[in-house]
Amino acid sequence: MSPFLWGASTSPHQTEGNNLNSDWWELENAEQSFLPERSGDALDSYHRYREEMTLLAEAGLNAYRFGVEWARIEPEQGRFSAAALAHYRRMIDTALELGLTPVVTLHHFSNPRWFAAGGGWGRSDAVALFTRYVERTSSILGNVDWVCTINEPNMVAVMDSVRRLLSGPDGFEALAGGLPAPDERSGATMVEVHRAAVDALRRHTDAAVGWTIAQQAFQSAGPEHDEMLRQTAWVWEDLYLEASRGDDFVGSQSYTSQLVGADGPIPHPPSPDNTITGWAYRPDALGMAARRAWEVTGGVPVLVTENGIATDDDQRRINYTEAALGHLRDAMADGVDVRGYLHWSAVDNYEWGHWGPTFGLIAVDRETFVRTPKPSLAWLGGVARRGRP
Ligand code: BGC
Repeated sequence: MSPFLWGASTSPHQTEGNNLNSDWWELENAEQSFLPERSGDALDSYHRYREEMTLLAEAGLNAYRFGVEWARIEPEQGRFSAAALAHYRRMIDTALELGLTPVVTLHHFSNPRWFAAGGGWGRSDAVALFTRYVERTSSILGNVDWVCTINEPNMVAVMDSVRRLLSGPDGFEALAGGLPAPDERSGATMVEVHRAAVDALRRHTDAAVGWTIAQQAFQSAGPEHDEMLRQTAWVWEDLYLEASRGDDFVGSQSYTSQLVGADGPIPHPPSPDNTITGWAYRPDALGMAARRAWEVTGGVPVLVTENGIATDDDQRRINYTEAALGHLRDAMADGVDVRGYLHWSAVDNYEWGHWGPTFGLIAVDRETFVRTPKPSLAWLGGVARRGRP
């Protein structure tokens, strides 16, 4: 069996900078955008990717998850950029050269503007368009052992629900109770898109293929809510986990656990222990999420593709991660087949509208772009050098 993957993750839009042709750029830069901050130059990782990869490798990690950006690879519908594809191939080669196993994500929230303008995932040709992009991108995936088709399809479906609510009569007020449930129609489309992408990747590459699911480690607020827990878990994540059956792995992404009551997920009550994103401090969520992924997929190997904490206190990041890995170890001892742990995130990056929540093992000065590793990077590298969790 290949060695346990120990690494960290990023996404293109959150790190590259000037992702001008994406729908997120458009959203951030719209007059009166509801997003408080713009991604701008981000971390200039489009040019400086070698720097974070080198720091990860030097610390002792053996894997790096990053994405390729559809908006750059297919800037206009049907027009593919050989230069963008060559750029991402250079990233893959750099990772391999440094001894990092690349884990490549093909879609991480952002779409090309032209795709969004034509109706996004609601358009009737969405599956065909994404499949064509995956086929073209397969040409650079030689020697890539791990490919994730879509990052958090369940959050993509949540975003579709958000969009629908924002365009309704109540606007922002409709979001007062927290994030809405994933749009079920978008969810069904995501499953179709994923299945088609898996088939295309299997035809054109030798990579292990899967997708990555946002997991809330839901718990019932009381026995009377068990039925609501079942329904909530289905709509929010089990539907997507079930659709992973037959894949080579399932990406598990967890940060916290959430209670479910009479009306569904209960927003995290304010607490001094909450993280910068307002989420409850729950390192045990990782073990719960890995177990759930294993159970609902009927035994698809689990790759932890994201887990981490937004905090300014790096010692707290270490404590959280150490505890989370303990829970992962327990799940593995109980038979869950876990193939790797990729921390979110390698770098402090653009948290979809804000720069405040810092998840990184590496800090970045956004004026000079100087990267400064935090003690947590050396700590995680030390854990990695010791072997399995
Ligand atoms: C996403 C990341 C995000 C992280 C922390 C996941 O939902 O894949 O892009 O930054 O969680 O919120």
